[in-house]
Order: sequence, then structure tokens, then C-alpha cells
Amino acid sequence: MPAVSATACGKLILLGEHAVVYDSPAIAIPITSLRVRAVVEPLIGEVQGTIRVKAEPLGIDHNLTELGKDHFLANALGLLFSTLGLLQTPTCRITITSELPIAAGLGSSAAYAVALLRAMSAFLGHSLNLQELNTLAFQSEQSVHGRPSGIDNTVITYEKPIFYQRGAMIEFLQPIREFVFVIADSGIRKSTRESTSQLAADLKADPQRYQPHLDAIADLVKQSKRSFQIGDLDALGSAINANQEHLSALRLSCPELDGLVSVAREAGALGAKLTGGGKGGHMLALVTPETEAAVAQALQSAGSPRVFSTRLYPGE
Ligand code: MEV
Repeated sequence: MPAVSATACGKLILLGEHAVVYDSPAIAIPITSLRVRAVVEPLIGEVQGTIRVKAEPLGIDHNLTELGKDHFLANALGLLFSTLGLLQTPTCRITITSELPIAAGLGSSAAYAVALLRAMSAFLGHSLNLQELNTLAFQSEQSVHGRPSGIDNTVITYEKPIFYQRGAMIEFLQPIREFVFVIADSGIRKSTRESTSQLAADLKADPQRYQPHLDAIADLVKQSKRSFQIGDLDALGSAINANQEHLSALRLSCPELDGLVSVAREAGALGAKLTGGGKGGHMLALVTPETEAAVAQALQSAGSPRVFSTRLYPGE
């Protein structure tokens, strides 16, 4: 079998993270410039069925059996092998590299799973269609996050902007104008499981205090679908700002993210908020081509260790 290589992109949640876990809609776009790559190649001279896995960003360089079957990569492979009805695992080497930081709100766990499933299924001669891939990636996400909404694996599998609500048909959005986002790292790493568990506990302890913020986020997302599609930057920027205030009230921001959000707004961003699990990770700023450089510069000067832009083109 020849070596096979496959990739998967990152993602940005524009509006609605966390509320989407409680069955509200959310809007997400792919970050196609940052990718996870998985290469699967034959392994010569090893016991039949041996799978070597090397994923430097995760500190992994083991036989698959040493990884433990609960590890999300082992889980993704196990799901694939049983879906394909494989009786004997292939003898191969898997190498995974990534431009996406882990636990940083950009969808790394779903991207690892999608890239790996794509490469391994092609290596086995059974390439998955997008729906099959999305289903397996979602199951793999369940082993990472507990109760994921499914938005990360969906936007990463399809690589298109989506209006996503658990249990509903995926709606692909086609904005009619270009969007530019500046994205900045807070430098803090937090697992999504940690932030979703905290919110679940808060909601249980004090629903009257927290539920209204989730409801308000759901309303913002519904109102913003049209603003996104018609490219109403001012309306979208205001919704992004309002979403950030609700996420803060839900205790999902942190001083470092709050600082970067203020800096971006002061430098001319139309809207700025955390993106993804929160309590660390990245923030996004909606900018124009005219304000992009000033916002990026301000975020760098404010101490963000990594600032970059992503663009969404009409009809993408
Ligand atoms: C994580 O990227 C987004 C969350 O809403 C979790 C999820 O949707 O599964 C925080």
C-alpha cells in the first residue's frame, strides 16, 4: 500500500459557542490556512498489525496499543476499523503534524480526528464520504469533550461556513462579501471539557442567573444569520461584542482575553470576542482591510504571543 497523506483545517466560532451545547444555533467558519496533516505509510519489519503513532505536538511516539484505547486518536481509529469491519489492523506508521495549537479554541481535536480518519481510510482503500467522516469525527469528539455539540467536527469536515444546531440539518452559509478576522492567542491553554463542565455546574447551581445569558446568545445568533449572509459588518460587529458580554457573564472569559478584546475594539475592530471553549485560547476581531494592520499591531503590542488574520471570500 502506498503512503497516504491528508489534512484538516481549523475553525472559528463567530457566535454561539457554549449555547450550542444546549441545542441553540451557532455560526462557525473554517480556518483553511492552519492545518493538521496525517500521513499513513506501510511499516516494514514489524509484527503484523503493529501501528506506530507519532504526533509530536501531543508528545506521542508509541505503538497504538501503548496509547490506551481511551485516547481520542486510538478511539478514532477503533471507530474507523469497526465501521469498515476490519478483522486485522494494518501494519503501518502514522505521523501527525499540526499548525493548530492544542486547547486553544481553534478546533484542534476535531482537526486531528478528521485528518487521521481521512488518511487512514484512504490508506485502507475505503475513503469515507463527508457524512461518514463527520459521523466518526463526532464520535471521536465525544471521547474528548464528553457532550460536544458537533459544531467543531462539522465545520472542519465540510470546510464551509455553517449555521449549526444539534439535531437540525446543517445549513451552509454563503456570505456575499469578504470578511477579515484578526485572531490573537491569549497564551493560556484550557481544555474545552474544563469550560463546558464549569458552565454545566454553574447552570445547575444557579439557573436563574446563567440561563438568561444562554437565551440571549441564542437570540443574537438567530438575528445574525442574515447579517452574516448579507455582509452587514456593523450589525455583525455589534452582535460579536454583545456575545462577548454574555460569555463574560457566564464566567467563560478571563482577564487576558478581556484585555485583548478591549485592545482590538480600541484599535478599530467592529467587534471582538473570545472564540471556542474560552477561559483562555484565542479571541477574534472583526476588522476591515483598512483596520486589519492597526488591530493586529495593537494585539501584538498588548503581548499576544501569536496574531494572525483569516479571510472568508464571497460564496466560499
Ligand atoms: C468548542 O469549540 C465549542 C463549544 O461550544 C463546545 C461544543 O460546541 O461542543 C464550547
